[in-house]
Amino acid sequence: MDKLCVRGGASLSGTVEIAGAKNAALPLMVASLLIEEPLVLENVPAVSDIETLKALLGGFGVEIQQADADGALSLNACALSSAHADYDLVRRMRASILVLGPLLAREGYAEVSLPGGCAIGSRPVNMHVEALEALGAEVAIDGGYVRARLPSSRSRLAGGQVVFASPSVGATENALLAASLAKGESKIINAACEPEVVDLANCLVKMGAEISGIGTSTLLIQGSECLQGTAHRVIPDRVEAGTYAVAAAITRGRVRLEKVCPDHLEVFLGMLERANVVVQVESQAPQMQGAETSGLQTKSEPQGTIALDATGGALCAVDITTAPYPMFPTDLQAQFMALMTQAQGESHITESIFENRFMHVQELIRLGAKIEVRGATATVQGATPLQAAPVMATDLRASVSLVLAGLAAEGDTEIRRIYHLDRGYQNLEGKLRALGAEVWREPQD
Ligand code: EPZ
Repeated sequence: MDKLCVRGGASLSGTVEIAGAKNAALPLMVASLLIEEPLVLENVPAVSDIETLKALLGGFGVEIQQADADGALSLNACALSSAHADYDLVRRMRASILVLGPLLAREGYAEVSLPGGCAIGSRPVNMHVEALEALGAEVAIDGGYVRARLPSSRSRLAGGQVVFASPSVGATENALLAASLAKGESKIINAACEPEVVDLANCLVKMGAEISGIGTSTLLIQGSECLQGTAHRVIPDRVEAGTYAVAAAITRGRVRLEKVCPDHLEVFLGMLERANVVVQVESQAPQMQGAETSGLQTKSEPQGTIALDATGGALCAVDITTAPYPMFPTDLQAQFMALMTQAQGESHITESIFENRFMHVQELIRLGAKIEVRGATATVQGATPLQAAPVMATDLRASVSLVLAGLAAEGDTEIRRIYHLDRGYQNLEGKLRALGAEVWREPQD
């Protein structure tokens, strides 16, 4: 296994292209299970979570072809050979639970291993189960598996009312996928509104699903007996974009992010501005895309560029609280905390989505940060000079926050367990190097 070495001190400058969103691509790939025709996805990022899902879908009989151009994948689920998702793959990636709804809707039964614990919190699947029960499924949990089937009197899921106690991205996606093939109308109340949920709904509509309320917390779905193949371009990764924005800010650099959706990052960018980073956003009108690889044209989300300039004056402390979209994303909390170690004053960072998403704190402290955690709030005293040290993290965003801190530290920081980074960041060190950072991999002893 390798470790990532980061030499601190360089001020980043230049342009970086943002990849397709991992968290949008995963549910979109799962949507291929609903249809007997190919689903062509463009702008799929080259990250290891995508490979894990390819292996899982392959096990159900989905044929997957990778085109050279533009991260395009063609997924063909014309005949499914299994509806069983084994622990070995599911434990590697919690998003595997998303196959439960579509497999059940298509095959009438599905067995998916419980994903188990996770570094950022207990992350139960009760809302996924409740949603499928509301659509008429019989669900049992035994032997470490969620086993869902249709009652013997039915050949399809039934439309129903799904009421979430709080918004869940994954459970909303599972419910949307299942309801699209159910008989009759379904309503999802208190649905998650994240751009990744919207992207899935937009793709389902192209596949022939009737969905209204997209982007709001109430979704209405008229179930279809069968859906068709289509082509769809995955939205840009707002978390990758936010991570490079912090890289620019923490190194007091000047960086331009291309192929992003600035609208998806409004609150985050507002917080960067308050921290004394100059942010300039340019949006472009939606374009027709997708003809090259699929022969089908799709209209993309409005895309644009974000220019960040952190070269003027000191960074200022800002308080943030993570919350469901459109508020500050939990997936950028660790990165923002790294930034706040370099800001003047005291900042309060409150995590309201996951109960244990401060695993980066102890590691940032090893680099010299002054952070105290009380309950769901971390108080950061800045600005503190950081000193390189060997560190490691237990999840994707925590790991990247250590890379960011390493960019601002004096000396060579070594980040271990970098397989977490490979799960969600396409060519991280290549992109950072192109911006002037000194970053390299070495075998871990
Ligand atoms: C998605 O996870 C993302 N993953 C996460 O990104 C992201 O942090 C999270 O949404 C919140 O935005 C993917 O899209 C693949 P949730 P998900 O269900 O769907 C609780 C990253 O770094 N909950 O919206 O699993 C849950 O414990 C990852 O890329 C239940 O209680 O998140 C949490 O407290 C990490 N029961 C809250 O809801 C359930 O059945 C929100 O989680 C489901 C969730």
